[in-house]
Amino acid sequence: MNDTQYNFGVVGLGVMGRNLLLNISDHNFSVAGLDLDPLKIDFLKAETTPGQPVFGTTSAEDFVRALSKPRAIMLLVPAGKAVDAVIKNLLPYLEAGDIVIDGGNSYFPDTDRRVAELAASKIHFFGMGISGGEKGARYGPSMMPGGDKAAYERLRPVFEAVAAKVNGEPCVTYLGNGSAGNYVKMVHNGIEYGIMQLISESYDLMKRGLSLTDDELQQTFEQWNQSEIQSYLVEITAEVLKKNDEVTGKKLVNMILDKAGQKGTGKWTSQNAMDLHVPIPTIDMAVSMRDISAYKAQRVQASKQLVHSPVNTNATDKQKVLDELKNALYFAMLTTYAQGMVQLGAASKAYNYNLTLQDVAKIWRGGCIIRAACLEDIRKAYENNGELANLLLDEKIGEELLKRQMATRSIIKLAIDEGIPMPALMSSLSYFDAYRSERLPTNIIQAQRDYFGAHTYERTDQEGVFHTEWD
Ligand code: 6PG
Repeated sequence: MNDTQYNFGVVGLGVMGRNLLLNISDHNFSVAGLDLDPLKIDFLKAETTPGQPVFGTTSAEDFVRALSKPRAIMLLVPAGKAVDAVIKNLLPYLEAGDIVIDGGNSYFPDTDRRVAELAASKIHFFGMGISGGEKGARYGPSMMPGGDKAAYERLRPVFEAVAAKVNGEPCVTYLGNGSAGNYVKMVHNGIEYGIMQLISESYDLMKRGLSLTDDELQQTFEQWNQSEIQSYLVEITAEVLKKNDEVTGKKLVNMILDKAGQKGTGKWTSQNAMDLHVPIPTIDMAVSMRDISAYKAQRVQASKQLVHSPVNTNATDKQKVLDELKNALYFAMLTTYAQGMVQLGAASKAYNYNLTLQDVAKIWRGGCIIRAACLEDIRKAYENNGELANLLLDEKIGEELLKRQMATRSIIKLAIDEGIPMPALMSSLSYFDAYRSERLPTNIIQAQRDYFGAHTYERTDQEGVFHTEWD
């Protein structure tokens, strides 16, 4: 134990925690790290140089005592019980005015509960989504903080120093009250699920529908990343498609089992959107497709029983299809961001987060997994109109969608004929078509509800609530 007082503390020295700690240290803050596993302390030591103001320990007491007051402690441990266990471990040594920041993907109601529990000891609990994976944590993540504003102001210099920068602006800003930070990160992940599904569908159509070779697939994503769909997820797809398997020498992607994992943030986004009555069909579909992917054995059986009858699709002009597909992917990406942003607007009202959607778009432009060139247009849309009900109504974004709707329809027709599932793309187009429909067939649903359950309906020509004796 030494007598140095450290500016900042990090609990959980797994890959994310260690990388973030080193990032903070690079920016001339002294940092103490806590992990119960002595091996993790050794890993940390191995990455620091003698004299670097970094201290690692397995003792919660030594860790807390090493921090200058009021203390700032960031937790980077798995969401759920581990967060409560760490808080319990630290609490005896903490004092009024200390700030505990949860940097994991915690479920937002848990954050609200922890804020209230720690407020009893006058300790600020702060939920902050961090995106960007290992590299982001080490060299500049996007950070989504929410909670007590005054507490944020104290942490601001550290966060702004370590965050990714776009045009010199840090990808971090105070987002709002309570669990706002975790909520925004949850929806970030929902959008992440949507875009990943859309990219995988595009890959499938190119591979099975157009019979593109592995190299052609790789080059296509690389070219796409030079265009308007430039984004981290398209970029890494091109990188993924380059990699050879060390065991077989084949492309590694072709050796990866088609069963997707998930830790819950996409599902929570969908569940909460339903609670708020916000339609986010692309994200819902992305969660469902991860679920369907898990039914591998049944899919293998069904592929033999439910054989697709080939249709002559005339998909011979590959370049034309590829251009349309790129446009369709962009169309669907924009509608996915639109759905997520509407959800954030609704959550902000429901939970009093007081979010500014322009700020959300701004800090998503760099560092995070869903960073994309189009986020600058999205930011501008909210800069022009902070009350924008839906990005689809922004003039520039609306134009981009209109330019691409025919290509999207054409790709969907091809996918249907080829029997290739593109449900996220279809959901994106259906969302667009439903949203731009002055009249939906919901009058039939209202009539049916009134028929079987006397649930009543409203009329188009008079105010009031009506019921009909239908038979
Ligand atoms: C990020 C990622 C990160 C994590 C996801 C993975 O923004 O850095 O979203 O948080 O990789 O939680 O989620 P799934 O395991 O559910 O795909």
